[in-house]
Amino acid sequence: MDYKKYIAQKIKVEGVSEDEVYSSIALPPNPEMGDYALPCFKFAKVLRKSPAIIAQSLAAEYPADDVIEKAEAVNGYVNFTINKLALARETIDEALSQGEKYGSSDIGGGRTVCIDYSSVNIAKPFHIGHLSTTAIGSALYKIFNFLGFKAVGINHLGDYGTQFGKLICAYKHWGNRDEVEKGGIHAINDLYVRFNSEATEEMEHEAREYFRLIESGDKEANELFDWFKELTLKYVKGIYQKLNVQFDSYAGERFYTDKMQPVIDELREKGLLKESEGAQIVDLEPYGMPPCLILRSDGASLYATRDLAAAIYRKKTYDFYKCLYVVAYQQNLHFKQVFKVLEIMGREWAKDLVHVAYGMVSLEDGAMSTRKGKVVWLEDVINRCVEKAYGIISEKNPELENKQDVAQKVGIGAVIFGALYNNKIKDIVFSYDKVLSFEGETSVYVQYTCARANSVISKGGVPASYAVGELLPQEAEVVKAIAAFPQAVQDAAEKYEPSIVARYAVDLAQKFNKFYFDCKILTAEGDKKNFRLALTSAALTALRNALTLLGIGVPEQM
Ligand code: ARG
Repeated sequence: MDYKKYIAQKIKVEGVSEDEVYSSIALPPNPEMGDYALPCFKFAKVLRKSPAIIAQSLAAEYPADDVIEKAEAVNGYVNFTINKLALARETIDEALSQGEKYGSSDIGGGRTVCIDYSSVNIAKPFHIGHLSTTAIGSALYKIFNFLGFKAVGINHLGDYGTQFGKLICAYKHWGNRDEVEKGGIHAINDLYVRFNSEATEEMEHEAREYFRLIESGDKEANELFDWFKELTLKYVKGIYQKLNVQFDSYAGERFYTDKMQPVIDELREKGLLKESEGAQIVDLEPYGMPPCLILRSDGASLYATRDLAAAIYRKKTYDFYKCLYVVAYQQNLHFKQVFKVLEIMGREWAKDLVHVAYGMVSLEDGAMSTRKGKVVWLEDVINRCVEKAYGIISEKNPELENKQDVAQKVGIGAVIFGALYNNKIKDIVFSYDKVLSFEGETSVYVQYTCARANSVISKGGVPASYAVGELLPQEAEVVKAIAAFPQAVQDAAEKYEPSIVARYAVDLAQKFNKFYFDCKILTAEGDKKNFRLALTSAALTALRNALTLLGIGVPEQM
């Protein structure tokens, strides 16, 4: 139930709408003060009274009932306390009746949110550095959809640039069709790496020529390019499938080839394009930024040029409410420049573009460098995690059926959760032991808690009805945590921060485990047993939904 709404409907402040009251209601800093608080400072002006006096009369007038049992004025706030038994019943009923929809809402009202994430580069390794953009973007995609938005997942492929000329040249010199077909992206990447270390002056020249051939539509060059692209996509899609990641569009940089000229024309018409050392730029000095490069002196377009065309195309195609770019913080300046250029071009919607920046991921042993030979492929990290998970599970529970399937869910979950648990802007050091610990703040811990709850339910069943009696503190804590789920999902969307859902899951799991160890469930008496089974099932619902939003599978048994 929406308690804020329940309260707002009963509060009457002259000259202030119910909506305004609703949006003013917040969580008190200290839970002992109550469950919700209404600050009255904003009303002081309208009512010409002090906030303290207003709070006192609102509290006195508030008709307490068996949902809100107390309204109390403290220093200009009205603090509301929810009846714990009513909260327990409400929350459990809601979680049980809504099931996998528990926590969802329609606040999005069908508005579109474009999310540009993962955005891999053709013929280049899909490495550990892509983990965060993929995991964060995918979680946001699921979270926005869950909240009634229409999320559009876009993989802005890096498929444009002189490197493809180099690749074709390397293939022509050293490549072989069967080997590349068999080796896929690894074989292509090897060719590219070899070019960078062995190419002669003459080959560099040839490479530029091949790039020109791709651009001018030459059949053979384009066939080769398309083939490399196809092999890369086939490979990355396999990984997306493992990670539960989806896209609605793979329109990459090349897609904007014919969409850049109108942008350049418009910049010129609006007098925004300036020449500087032969290049065309937009001067951003008035905004304290270096110029945004639009065309190089040889007439070639740049990464920013394609992003300008892409933003305009997305607005036209999807009419987005927000367009998010889940890209590392190293590109902060790039996005600030692109957004500013769109703003000064007069695109008022430039304010709806958001760079969702995140920090670096490195491995414990320091390996991360994308320089030749030192790349850590994401696939290897996933495989190693699954393998280790298999070992741990077999040791813990040798009897377990479907060990392979459980290991997949646990291992892959650990990779995703490892990237999502921390505030996204933090740099993280990925440690296999840490992400796979049953005791830590990990997905494994949450999954194991789910399996535990599931085993209780499969023995005791979900009761058709239950009575709520006096609550023990451990039970009340679980109730509160389950009730907090919908708000956690909304906060995660509002702050573009899936870690809020990840932390939520760990918090609820911890509270559930405390309840599980302190309170008998299956051996409790009559009413108490039914209540605790219902509570267990509701907690499992919230935990499962939280993990699902992050793209993490939930094994039935572990
Ligand atoms: N492919 C780019 C990279 O690996 C990321 C693209 C991000 N999206 C964008 N619209 N610029 O750095």
